Amino acid sequence: MNIKINNKIYKVKEWETVLDVCRREGIRIPTLCGFEGLPREAVCRLCLVEIGGRLVASCTAKAFDGLEIITESDDINKARRINLELLWADHAGKCATCKKNKMCELQRLAEEYKIENFHFIPRKGEITGCEELDLIRDNWSRVVVENENPCISRNSELCIECKRCINICPEKKFGFNHRGSDIVVGTPYEKVLDCSFCGKCIEVCPTGALTDKNDYVKIVEELDNLKKFSVAVLDFAITEKILKQIENITQEKKIEKLLIRLGFEKVIQLEKENSEDEIIKNIKTEYAKQEKINSNDMVVFFISSKIYKKAKKDNYLDYVLSEREVARLVRDKEKMREGKIKI
Ligand code: FES
Repeated sequence: MNIKINNKIYKVKEWETVLDVCRREGIRIPTLCGFEGLPREAVCRLCLVEIGGRLVASCTAKAFDGLEIITESDDINKARRINLELLWADHAGKCATCKKNKMCELQRLAEEYKIENFHFIPRKGEITGCEELDLIRDNWSRVVVENENPCISRNSELCIECKRCINICPEKKFGFNHRGSDIVVGTPYEKVLDCSFCGKCIEVCPTGALTDKNDYVKIVEELDNLKKFSVAVLDFAITEKILKQIENITQEKKIEKLLIRLGFEKVIQLEKENSEDEIIKNIKTEYAKQEKINSNDMVVFFISSKIYKKAKKDNYLDYVLSEREVARLVRDKEKMREGKIKI
């Protein structure tokens, strides 16, 4: 089977979508809801392309013999921009305080498409009656901010309803609450999230709606405290994940040096899977004794994707940091040093 994309012929397989073919052939199409391995739901409408004079979502459009597709035109860009602006409208002004600032897929696209004006948000002086105010109040009344579970922070204000978390959760803990324009992604009856905390939902969330839970300010203080001896235990095979997170922030490849630059005094790399418990236990006991360090002055961090360990901290382990949180530390330190983090 052959299809034509931007006047060039490509071979396609029967089950492929237009987006699949474009990705395989390196033709860039913006996506927000689409995620490798998850069902395609055509929610964000950013992957629009032109087929037979109509704009269609390429993530669900099946490729078939003779199909002709255009991926870039003024009309396509205009439609993508409007859809992006609608999603962005809910977010305007919140980036500066968001944990995912500079690591957010929506923000990246808004920058790429140069979204600067907020046509869909009433500004000062534009709210003329109680109706608009009631609408805004009503929208806010359904916002769910949940920090009561031990591992994941939820903020539905930053959610774009892309359904990635709903589709990826193996325990089916997320779904849609309310109906129509009132819809919000949440837990059944908006109960506190109670799951095995595998962290997959945070991995796929394109914005700051689902993030790692931690006392970030305290972590930064601990790392900056010269009286504290901070030890980072790097989980088996976590390095690649960290580098993937920070590739847009820094080109730095020497993880150990990068962590030392962040304020860690000692970095221990685990050589085997699931070998952390004993090694972590030894740090405040045997290692502290050997190095003549008061164990009370030690802060032990486990850098791992196993975010469920955040709920299992004890006297031997003070913090569990995910690869995303390391990236956040890098981002903030870089900002502080105005990009002078070269090692
Ligand atoms: S990726 Fe196709 S609609 Fe979102």
